[in-house]
Amino acid sequence: MATAQQIIALLSSHVKGDQEQVLSIALQVAAVEARSGRKETAEQLRKLVQIARNARSRQVPSSDISAIPIARTKGELQTLLSVHYPKTRLDDMALAGDTLDRLNDVLEQQAQRERLRSFGKVPTSRLLLAGPPGSGKTMTASVLAAELHVPLFAVRLDALITRYLGETAGKLRLIFDHVATTRGVFLFDEFDAIGSYRGADNDVGEMRRVLNSFLQFMEEANNTDSLIVAATNHAELLDPALARRFDDVIVYGMPDEKAARKIIERHLGLFRPRQLQWTKLLSAAAGLNHGEIARGVDDVIKRAILKEATKVTSGDLQAALAARGNAKAALSGKREA
Ligand SMILES: Nc1ncnc2c1ncn2[C@@H]1O[C@H](COP(=O)(O)OP(=O)(O)OP(=O)(O)O)[C@@H](O)[C@H]1O
Ligand SMILES: [Mg+2]
Repeated sequence: MATAQQIIALLSSHVKGDQEQVLSIALQVAAVEARSGRKETAEQLRKLVQIARNARSRQVPSSDISAIPIARTKGELQTLLSVHYPKTRLDDMALAGDTLDRLNDVLEQQAQRERLRSFGKVPTSRLLLAGPPGSGKTMTASVLAAELHVPLFAVRLDALITRYLGETAGKLRLIFDHVATTRGVFLFDEFDAIGSYRGADNDVGEMRRVLNSFLQFMEEANNTDSLIVAATNHAELLDPALARRFDDVIVYGMPDEKAARKIIERHLGLFRPRQLQWTKLLSAAAGLNHGEIARGVDDVIKRAILKEATKVTSGDLQAALAARGNAKAALSGKREA
């Protein structure tokens, strides 16, 4: 029989509209049943999951239709923007207190944007996210879209930036027209590609023109209901004129122990063993970024699934995190050499 903990996890995934998580919990319950000798129940559950998966692959998920308006991009826009309907919530993130406050503030201002406008104030809607790899910048854009129930439009920089003179500015125009007409979170990921300092040595004429157009469009974007989120690992390379155009610059850092613990707990889910040796785990996770910790936990879970185990062990988890740390140290050693 499913435990209360499993039913709670099932229901909360259902409430979030995360059907994939519902099915993965059902499979975990099937594994527990199989291990307890109830092979028929396990088989029944697995078959139901398979039927649900087959049905889902044939249709647009109904949760997407009810939760947010489906926005489609047409023609050339389609090559410039990819559309996503993320489900990740703010609560899923491990963030430093002030970062969390800033994001909550953005959401609050968006929720109350009409009220702010009626007082002649512009809600915060243009964010620059800066910080090291794997610290949650891209995840933040997804979270903002999910919390606001709007689509996430990721700008494809490779399609945007071309070698042909003047073409990129035209493409930017298309994107910013879409910003004005369709409410969404527009993500310019790895933004340093266009945002690099105008006077920098590696500057080329076309990039300077792109940057100038971007600065111009950013002024116009001020009166739309869309959010513009730019993310970069290299805030120091960004043109100061550009940084000024953003309403807020949010800086991400490496996870502290509290954040590392939250990521481990969240990712373990039902695979969490009763006992975890936190001191050892946190020391193995030290030096890893958020993304690396998350992937370390996922590695151990995948191995547990393949062994038909229903829980991971604290020792396996510690070993997986330590292995990631060692691999990282070896790689950075090579780079420095
Ligand atoms: N603050 C966080 N809280 C919880 N999980 C996180 C956080 N940051 C990152 N993760 C995990 O790491 C994964 C990668 O994070 P993300 O892609 O957002 O990093 P990023 O800052 O955009 O990195 P990059 O600079 O390499 O693009 C996420 O999908 C998530 O699983
Ligand atoms: Mg990213």
